[in-house]
Amino acid sequence: MLEVKTIVLGVTGSIAAYKAVDIANQLSRAGVKVDVVMTKEATKFVAPLSFRAVTGRAAVIDMFDASSEFNITHISLAGAANIVVIAPATANIIAKLATGIADDVLSCTVLATKAPVVIAPAMDVNMYGNPVTQENVSKLKERGFIFVGPRFGKLASGKEGLGRFANTEEIIGVISQVLGKKGDLANKHAVVTAGSTQEFIDPVRIITNRSSGKMGYALAEAARDRGAKVTLIAGPTLLTRPVGVEVINVCTAEEMFQAVKNAVPRADVLIMASAVADYRPKSTAKEKIKKKGAGLTLELELTPDILKEVSGDFIRIGFAAESENLVENATQKLQQKKLDLIVANDITAKDSGFGADSNRVTIIDKDGKAKKLPLLPKREVAEKVLDKVAKLIPPKEKRDLSRIEITLIQSDITGKRISIPQNSRFLFPQYGVPFTVETGIGDLRVHMKKPHSKYDKDHFHFSDWFKTHPELQGGDKLIIEVIEPMKRYRLKTE
Ligand code: CTP
Repeated sequence: MLEVKTIVLGVTGSIAAYKAVDIANQLSRAGVKVDVVMTKEATKFVAPLSFRAVTGRAAVIDMFDASSEFNITHISLAGAANIVVIAPATANIIAKLATGIADDVLSCTVLATKAPVVIAPAMDVNMYGNPVTQENVSKLKERGFIFVGPRFGKLASGKEGLGRFANTEEIIGVISQVLGKKGDLANKHAVVTAGSTQEFIDPVRIITNRSSGKMGYALAEAARDRGAKVTLIAGPTLLTRPVGVEVINVCTAEEMFQAVKNAVPRADVLIMASAVADYRPKSTAKEKIKKKGAGLTLELELTPDILKEVSGDFIRIGFAAESENLVENATQKLQQKKLDLIVANDITAKDSGFGADSNRVTIIDKDGKAKKLPLLPKREVAEKVLDKVAKLIPPKEKRDLSRIEITLIQSDITGKRISIPQNSRFLFPQYGVPFTVETGIGDLRVHMKKPHSKYDKDHFHFSDWFKTHPELQGGDKLIIEVIEPMKRYRLKTE
């Protein structure tokens, strides 16, 4: 997503200015054209030559430099930029931008650009906390400027407080997210699972596996950078939380199952890149199991097969960790779990699979077509998978959220209850919270109940109403009109 982009990186006179060299370096390596614009004060902290060395382009400092490649420097920069990033940003540049002062190349460029502007402040805690700086920050936020940080931490003065420059990963994460807003997954919601699960034997011992979570994290970041809203459900991992992604931390397979079930009703795609434990101890010992005798037998039971059990209106992508018969085994999983795509990886190779930064995978689609990819960094594997996902997700039809159609089944009639389709569940409140349903026999107060089994749906009991409709039978249609989501509905027979 980043390649073929032009970024204007503004660097101002903060002690953190040297860190901008790393940002420029990483962006350039990712294929971005980086034009660094420095204030005069910034040149006291870091040499313009450092930026030229990493970007291959001269840093711009002087508005009237006759040798500059640009015609009218600030106008050319402002027009070419896909994004302007000021990192680090001093209280001074923030004040200038808030009031429209344009007295150097950087402030003129920001004033002249239509591109999004990201600001990463770095300054003394009191300068940042000063009401005038706070007022300036608020003004800029209101105008759509995007702030990253500052963070709480040790400052150059030795003091601790809010004013520390955000780290490079965070700043690049925000840049990628902003640039990806119009990507091929814009307005889509991806739920991604990552890492292993841990099943407790006793308070100190677990059953787990070697999954690092890197593949799932790469998928989450790549989906974010293509414009998707991402929910990342992650088992225990040492990886850094990606910026701009909703992260839900879980530990056991059961917790992952619940988190996935909660997240999928609004998802366009579920990508299960986690290595879920297949078995867990039948019971967890309350105290640490003491060493006794020569052996120990643990009784295990199956965990829920999440991919197999979650249902709904979304694209389903699985991963298959295989040590033999890669394509055959993966194809079998694709069919058994009713997937749209499966990504098979050979976990026996050292440079691929668990824990590695790269992966050698074969992508198999529903028609059995298998595409073997070479050894690639996990981020690139993620992009290849998402290329397919983007084609699989149907364009969002404009769903009428004011009307829910329900086909009655016999067991609901017998149980005098109304089951809500999973893709409309989000229009109702949580379990136990009362809401009103208008009916021909007046307003009835009810609340949503949990399903009794995995074949069941969330439902509410409606005995009084069913008593007045003895004619109903399986297959009949009901309509619920949503008058005010979470509060008031109207029930009609069709
Ligand atoms: N998976 C799941 N729930 C489980 C086990 C696996 O949702 N309890 C998902 C994984 O996240 C992955 C796919 O199913 O996307 C295949 O996982 P894998 O471990 O390769 O296969 P299993 O179904 O567990 O079969 P086996 O371990 O016998 O190979």
